[in-house]
Order: sequence, then structure tokens, then C-alpha cells
Amino acid sequence: DRLPALLEAMPKAELHIHIEGSLEPELMFRLAERNGVALPYPSVEALRAAYAFKDLQSFLDIYYAGASVLRTEQDFHDMAWAYLVKAAQEHVVRAEIFFDPQTHTARGVEMGTVVAGLSGALERARRELGVSCDLILCFLRHLSEEDAFQTLEQALPYRDRFIGVGLDSSERGHPPEKFARVFARCRELGLHLVAHAGEEGPPEYIRSALDVLHVERIDHGVRCVEDPALVRRLAEQRVPLTVCPLSNVKLCVFSRMEDHNLGQLLARGLVATVNSDDPAYFGGYLNQNFQACFEALPLDATHAWQLASHSFEASFADAADKRRWH
Ligand code: ADE
Ligand code: ZN
Repeated sequence: DRLPALLEAMPKAELHIHIEGSLEPELMFRLAERNGVALPYPSVEALRAAYAFKDLQSFLDIYYAGASVLRTEQDFHDMAWAYLVKAAQEHVVRAEIFFDPQTHTARGVEMGTVVAGLSGALERARRELGVSCDLILCFLRHLSEEDAFQTLEQALPYRDRFIGVGLDSSERGHPPEKFARVFARCRELGLHLVAHAGEEGPPEYIRSALDVLHVERIDHGVRCVEDPALVRRLAEQRVPLTVCPLSNVKLCVFSRMEDHNLGQLLARGLVATVNSDDPAYFGGYLNQNFQACFEALPLDATHAWQLASHSFEASFADAADKRRWH
């Protein structure tokens, strides 16, 4: 069976990766020691053992606690560089990388420190690894729109270091409408717009992400299948969904990979892509996401080609690069 080799070797884009979710326990412990930060776990093994999640919130609690070891520009650089080395090995030729500045600025880390560390690693990856990559700043939806506006203000001196904004964190009870004004401002600024919607939240949140926030892609979006008219619209308008198979199983959006709806999404003509979300927490980087869903679902080489093709179509890369990869 040559499918695993094809999945591994095919050039692809990753469009849904939270850089704080790429922080491996080993690096987390090293940074904790370097910065004199105490972790509430005695060892790497004990920390990994705590990665048993029952839903999105139970993951987010541990994920935000883990990010507390990040203090200096070097820390942000080291984390992003480790991800980009891994991505290059996996034949990721394009990466659009989320970061959550509020997780850091709320602890007294300067926006400039976060952005300099991350964007320095990306610049190095373009040069040394030949990976095309850019940053997308995410607003935390459990915080207020006022807080998002302040974050945007703090980030504007670094406007050229990120290409867009997203919306992540606790979905239920925090509908896209809550961020209508700040997304409108970002749209005026010419930023690309994306939002997590329809991961745990209802299909209505996907509709309002499109109609109220005017996003260009939906992150996750798997719950769209509950609304057939919405599925038809997503297919007709070719709105990409950045699906994260291992994440969905770890956070109990689907109880087993065999139950994942990726095959259905493709069959209905949706521009679905495969992504890793938070690879250090969910048991695998991009290629392991491909391997896991191709093992569990009736997907073949045609689907593999389609998913890679969708990832380039959905990306915010330059038109010239997209033509080259596509
Ligand atoms: N932040 C990191 N991963 C996330 C996810 N899967 N959903 C919402 N917010 C996140
Ligand atoms: Zn995500």
C-alpha cells in the first residue's frame, strides 16, 4: 500500500496550527527551567499524562497554563523554529500560523517580544528551510471585544509582521457577533479574516462568521453538516474549512476517527483541508493527521490529491506561489 508514502511526501499547506499548541512538553520544561517558572507537574511524563481532554475547555485550561513558560523573544523563537523544522520535514511548503498574543500580554509579556520572537523564526525558516510562512493574530473570544481592540492597537506597530486575524478559544456562548466591530476594523486595515466556528458551536456560528465577520475561511466548521442549506452555500462559494482530525477526536467532537465526517465534507464538494491545530497536545503533526484519518476512513489517493490541492487554493500565499504549488 503506497498511500502512507504519498501522504508523507506530497507537498501541502498547513492553515490551522496554533503555535502555542506546538510547544512540546520537553521544550516546556526547558523553558520553565531557563525562566525560573514553576510548572504544576513534576515531569514530562506526568504532564503528558494530563493530556486527557473531555472537551475544548478542559484542553484550553492546560494549554494556557503551558504557555506561561514563554517569557522572552528567544522562547517564542525557539518554539516557532521547532515547529517549522518539523513542518519542513513533513513537506509542508506553506504554513499560516496562529498566535494568541492575549495569552502573553495578560502576563506582562510585551506584544513586541511575542511578535519579534515568532516573526524572527519565520524569517529564518523562509531563508534556511525554504518554507513559505506567515502569522495570523488570533483574538481570544472568551475575552471582551474591548480587549481585542486593545490587542489590535498594540499589534498595529507590527502590521507588516502578520497577514490576518482569527478568532479562537472557548466557542460556546461567544458567538462571532461579539467581535463584529473589531473584525470590521481589521477588514478596513486590509487584513485577512478567519474564525473558528462550528467546532463545538452550532452551525449558526458558521453563518454569522461569514455574514457578520466576513471571514474568508472557517476554522473547523465540521458541524456545518447539521445544516444542509449551509453546506450547499459553503460548497457554492468555495469557503474553505480547515479541519483538524486528531484534534476533533481528542476533544470529543467525534468519539472515534471512524466517525469523523471529513469524507462526507469532501463528497459534498466542500473545500476541506487537513491540519494539526495543536500538535503537541493532540498526538501528532500534520502527516500524522493525514495518516490517522486515511487509516480510519474510506479515503484514497484521489482524496489525498484533493486535500493537498484544497490547502493551496485556501491559502493566503501570493498568487504566483499558489500557481506554482497547485
Ligand atoms: N486554541 C487552540 N486550539 C483551539 C481550538 N481547537 N479551538 C479553539 N481555540 C483553540
Ligand atoms: Zn484551532
